[in-house]
Amino acid sequence: MEATSAILDKLNDLDKKFEAIGQKTETHLEGLVWAKPITYWDYIQTDALLNLQTQRTTLPDEMVFIMYHQVNELLFKMILWETEQLCENDVPTTEVFTEKLMRISRYFDMLTTSFDIMGDGMEVEQYMKFRNTLTPASGFQSAQYRLIEFASTDLINLIDNRYRGTIDRNTSYEHAFEHLYWQAAGKDYKTGKKSYLINAFEEKYKDEFLRYMEKYNTINIWKKFQQLPEDTQKDAKLIKAMRHYDYTVNVTWVMGHYNAAAKYIESKDGPQEATGGSDWKKYMHPRYQRRIFFPELWSEEELRTWGENV
Ligand code: HEM
Repeated sequence: MEATSAILDKLNDLDKKFEAIGQKTETHLEGLVWAKPITYWDYIQTDALLNLQTQRTTLPDEMVFIMYHQVNELLFKMILWETEQLCENDVPTTEVFTEKLMRISRYFDMLTTSFDIMGDGMEVEQYMKFRNTLTPASGFQSAQYRLIEFASTDLINLIDNRYRGTIDRNTSYEHAFEHLYWQAAGKDYKTGKKSYLINAFEEKYKDEFLRYMEKYNTINIWKKFQQLPEDTQKDAKLIKAMRHYDYTVNVTWVMGHYNAAAKYIESKDGPQEATGGSDWKKYMHPRYQRRIFFPELWSEEELRTWGENV
């Protein structure tokens, strides 16, 4: 091989890189001589990934249930990956904001359009059997889903509708946490007692949630939108994209999830308890839940009728 000037330039670049961290270029070149060529399976870690599916029963459709949840968690991770890049950018340009929003939105579109895998892709009889082995666990305990919410909107929009008046910018994060809309699924409001579902969830994640809530209070997607130039904030195409993301997460996905839950939970001998034990029908419908990330982008009428006729 001829040592062309292009190769010498590369060696020079490498030398600068290693010198900066006190390393010898020659040693690293020697390492390269013995390094194994990379394969697809090592790079993607296929073996590790495909060994993460452990059934608790012998029912084949439990595998569909486990794997689809894992696919969801991977996509949640992709959403958070983009969200973090967008939100940690001090002053994103219109191009960066739009690009990241579209990526995030596409991932959630994928989750929404694929939800039939849950609704139609399992035998009801099998579901009704294997669900008993996963009680009291629930998708409710997906931490990444909560992080996406914190990163998307101002905290006030995640507070239970009934308590919004008691919360403002001076309220402690601890107090806000206790009044998040999803506390309703895990608390008996007469006795105030929390269920095992939520106690276990909080024991594992509450500290992380409080840190994340505080961090994203000032840098969430809505706050980044407000940093854009005024004419961009009025851009019809961008507003449409923001509304699409809001509606996809908070109505379309929620209804896909609600309908799948109804199909299975109500399939046998009248209404059954949810595995997590919530008053799920009341809790999960967008009409009652009223979780809206960007209320400023909807008309009064749209807000009033949120989640109706879906
Ligand atoms: C047949 C499939 C499913 C059924 C029957 C179902 C049922 C339920 C029920 C009843 C709840 C309310 C909490 C409880 O008491 O458990 C819930 C919450 C939840 N589930 Fe599912 N679920 C299914 C699939 C999924 C999938 C694939 C995901 C994706 C990760 C998921 C994520 C969630 C989340 C994030 C919540 C909390 C929603 C909120 O707080 O608004 N679920 N699910």
